[in-house]
Amino acid sequence: MTHFDKVKSLKGTVRVPSDKSISHRSFMFLAMSQGKGRVIDPLLSEDTKATMAAMRSVGVSFEETVDGYVVTSKGYKNFQEPSDVIDCMNSGTTARLLTGVFAPTGKYVVLTGDESLRKRPMDRVIDPLTLMGAKFAARNDGHNLPMTILPSKTKPVHMQATTKSAQVKSAVLLAGVQTEGITTYIEKAVTRNHTEIMLAALGARVKTDGLKIEIEGAADLRSMDIVVPGDFSSAAFFLGAALMFENSELVLENVGLNPTRSGMLKVLSDMGVKYEIDSERGGAEKLGDIFIKSQTLKGCTIDGDIVANMIDELPMMATLGLFADSPVIIKGAKELRVKESDRIETTLYNLKQLGAEVEEYDDGMKVFPIKKVDTNAQLKSFGDHRIAMIAIMLAKRFGGNISVDDVKCVDVSFPSFIETFSRLEQK
Ligand code: S3P
Repeated sequence: MTHFDKVKSLKGTVRVPSDKSISHRSFMFLAMSQGKGRVIDPLLSEDTKATMAAMRSVGVSFEETVDGYVVTSKGYKNFQEPSDVIDCMNSGTTARLLTGVFAPTGKYVVLTGDESLRKRPMDRVIDPLTLMGAKFAARNDGHNLPMTILPSKTKPVHMQATTKSAQVKSAVLLAGVQTEGITTYIEKAVTRNHTEIMLAALGARVKTDGLKIEIEGAADLRSMDIVVPGDFSSAAFFLGAALMFENSELVLENVGLNPTRSGMLKVLSDMGVKYEIDSERGGAEKLGDIFIKSQTLKGCTIDGDIVANMIDELPMMATLGLFADSPVIIKGAKELRVKESDRIETTLYNLKQLGAEVEEYDDGMKVFPIKKVDTNAQLKSFGDHRIAMIAIMLAKRFGGNISVDDVKCVDVSFPSFIETFSRLEQK
């Protein structure tokens, strides 16, 4: 159990950790490509290390440099069969994307994960890949890890998404890029598009038209150098912090601004929040510096297609309901129930401990402005990195005797979170 001193405001400049989604993909996709390529500024966290270890187990070499890794590979056609089980640890992205990477290789691969990941649904990738001819055996009638990917030959298909998930889309595209012919995937809403952007840059023919994505296989992917931008989802905690802690002023540097990720900025604008974005730069993946300071907040309703573009930021947005002039309502976000924790339940658990009035829906939540704070609240992380970071922020905001049970899990995406936050504190 950890206690934190009360913090009045936050001031300074933050360089947030590199993007987790893009780091996973850089390690995986360079491993699938032929040649030598550099990943510059990757995120090195528990999650992304799991991806790197998985790719090493199929014969890919990762050599550490001052600013990242050199990845050397003979490409996906020459993967070796792993001699042991691959442990995806806490990482849903590793497990789901690797299912798509390995399904067409004709190799026998076993994936598992930690206790939390073994409870998360895997049928969402197994089902569409089975339509492509891939073969699996997985625990609980094909729902959960451990999962065995059996040797098979895949065929291209035309399919409609059944979940709004970038991981599922990516698994299909990663199988599609290795499968002779054109695979078509039609999304239910536009989800993060890093896979499409990066596979195209590595030489695949990928065509996006609204919700429809076509990919041609079997592609010859050629290595390249990839520079990873800052993670918008990590920046989101500091955007939230500037609005939670009075008299704060923060500059968030080098933040990835891909519109399929940064839906939170649009919703903050709808809540009346003013921020500035400086020196927007980058190629296919835009990035920039965000300046934000404390200000009053209106409540809002978040629903519809934008939910997919801010899925990991919703616990932070719900928490901002405590500080707004009217409730924050989130709907259409049932996906939150199958993240590292059930993020509707775990977010509301902590807010209720603090004395907040909340409502829980099957697909969302409503958080009212807080009237009286219980400064003896015992908050929990539920082993979920994003829930832990918000709990730490709440403990620092309200002070008193508030505790957080286990904060080690921040290492999954933001190993230096506590130090980075402390550097900005004005007590
Ligand atoms: C991710 C996609 C999202 C997100 C996760 C990372 C990715 O999951 O929540 O943190 O890198 O593709 P879903 O695809 O399940 O929505």
